Amino acid sequence: MKKTKSTITFIFNGEAVSVNFGNENLLPSTTVLNWLRNTQNHKEVKEGCAEGDCGACTVVVAEPAPDGQSLIYKAVNACILFLPTLDGKMLITTAGLSPLTNDTKELHPVQKAIVHEHATQCGFCTPGFAMSLFALYHKPGKHSHLEINNALAGNLCRCTGYDSIRKAAKSALIGNRTDAFSKKESEIARLLQNVNDCKTTLEIKHPLQKYIRPVELKELLELRALYPEALIVNGSTDAALRQSKHFENLPFIIDISAISELQTFEISDNTIIAGAGLCLEDLRLQCEQVYPALYDILSVFASRQIRNTATLGGNLGSASPIGDTLPLLMAGNAEIEASSLRCKRKIPAREFVKSYRTTALSKNEIISKVHIPLPQKDEIIKMYKVSKRHDMDISTVSAAFLLNKSKTGLVKDFSVYFGGMAATTLPAAKTIRFLMGKKWEESIVIKAMKILEKEFKPLSDARSGADFRNLAAAGLLMKFYHETKDV
Ligand SMILES: Cc1cc2nc3c(=O)[nH]c(=O)nc-3n(C[C@H](O)[C@H](O)[C@H](O)COP(=O)(O)OP(=O)(O)OC[C@H]3O[C@@H](n4cnc5c(N)ncnc54)[C@H](O)[C@@H]3O)c2cc1C
Ligand code: FES
Ligand code: FES
Repeated sequence: MKKTKSTITFIFNGEAVSVNFGNENLLPSTTVLNWLRNTQNHKEVKEGCAEGDCGACTVVVAEPAPDGQSLIYKAVNACILFLPTLDGKMLITTAGLSPLTNDTKELHPVQKAIVHEHATQCGFCTPGFAMSLFALYHKPGKHSHLEINNALAGNLCRCTGYDSIRKAAKSALIGNRTDAFSKKESEIARLLQNVNDCKTTLEIKHPLQKYIRPVELKELLELRALYPEALIVNGSTDAALRQSKHFENLPFIIDISAISELQTFEISDNTIIAGAGLCLEDLRLQCEQVYPALYDILSVFASRQIRNTATLGGNLGSASPIGDTLPLLMAGNAEIEASSLRCKRKIPAREFVKSYRTTALSKNEIISKVHIPLPQKDEIIKMYKVSKRHDMDISTVSAAFLLNKSKTGLVKDFSVYFGGMAATTLPAAKTIRFLMGKKWEESIVIKAMKILEKEFKPLSDARSGADFRNLAAAGLLMKFYHETKDV
């Protein structure tokens, strides 16, 4: 019989902590935020929205880098992170950054910078900002203005004004960044390797919830075949909201976040092969040079905190009509690898979503990998997202385009897939038909816009009206034209 455990062990602000779910009568899907505030009395971690939107609950989770010597620090939202995911890692809150004294000399450099730049007023958001900054402080390399903005985009402040917060970020990041953590990084990495029992399946039985976290793909597929009713969870950025916002009890969770076989990234035969469990921030960084359109869309996908846990498999598995990766994967002819105990098959991304929030996966399958062809020499691929804010917002409308022009400027190949225009991500079939073989010029694109404006019957909802969505879709076609007419 396979060895299992029901206790997790991690380092919390410098101390090793074990949580035995059986003894402590804790629901396995207890969030890190609720554990910190309700059982540990760590009220420095704030609760604002409880849905990943405001960053007040930001904490840092660190784990050993592949070299085994250094650590990778990631800012995450404690309000949508399930406690078992801390197993074998290090959890840091602001109380762990510096001793709790009134002496500002004792503060961590990011905290000092916040004080010196007057980057706080009521202080509610400040612990969250400090933790996002702390993670950036430990991210190697120089950080541009843009990188600072990107790292702080998931933290909202209602009173200070972002200018002084940015100034604090800049001054904290100057010079060679050393602190108490960097000085004993290899020691902590060794300690974490001892704490991390990554070969044992975690299995927790609570009267209200069963939670299994397998460590190998084969084991996951066996579990999937045995328990098709269980909810697969990876980053939990969608799944946790069912609990925190809709007060659903999740009776059976299979957490796939510990399976390293699902977290791979490689490029082979001009194709990116991304593991379904790769977090979107890692995927974004891997794509910066090789697939700029994917890098760009992932840069405006939620926030750094969300992307640090959210996965590609989770984005596809949720089959949301406003999911931000599917339009690009469809336009770029990607394939989604579905695995079950018996077989592995590739599903074209264009056929993956069958109806509103329903995928082509059968009950015993999971998404294991995504195969994304790199753009060919003559292909132009771009994606745009229209949302109410530039950062940290869900799409109102999104569009991914692929264009291949002949030497004489005729459209040899064209496709466009829209999110937010229907119950599923869809191609603008009539517009595509109209443009094929035509000259790629403004007068033709204006005619295509007229067709596009009538092609969909989008919803009017809290985000936008149907008329705006139709206009925005047509506007995106013109934007794409302007960005590609001379290429
Ligand atoms: C504040 C906030 C902002 C967000 N912003 C955006 C945004 O800008 N753009 C956007 O597209 N989304 C956004 N999202 C939604 C969410 O973050 C993404 O859909 C994310 O990619 C989900 O990944 P996950 O690993 O967290 O999925 P989970 O929550 O773990 O799972 C989501 C669903 O996918 C299924 N699933 C997960 N992995 C697999 C797998 N390997 N095989 C089969 N099924 C699987 C699960 O069963 C579940 O039904 C946002 C969410 C929040 C909370
Ligand atoms: S409480 Fe708002 S992001 Fe967690
Ligand atoms: S200081 Fe008040 S919310 Fe930021």
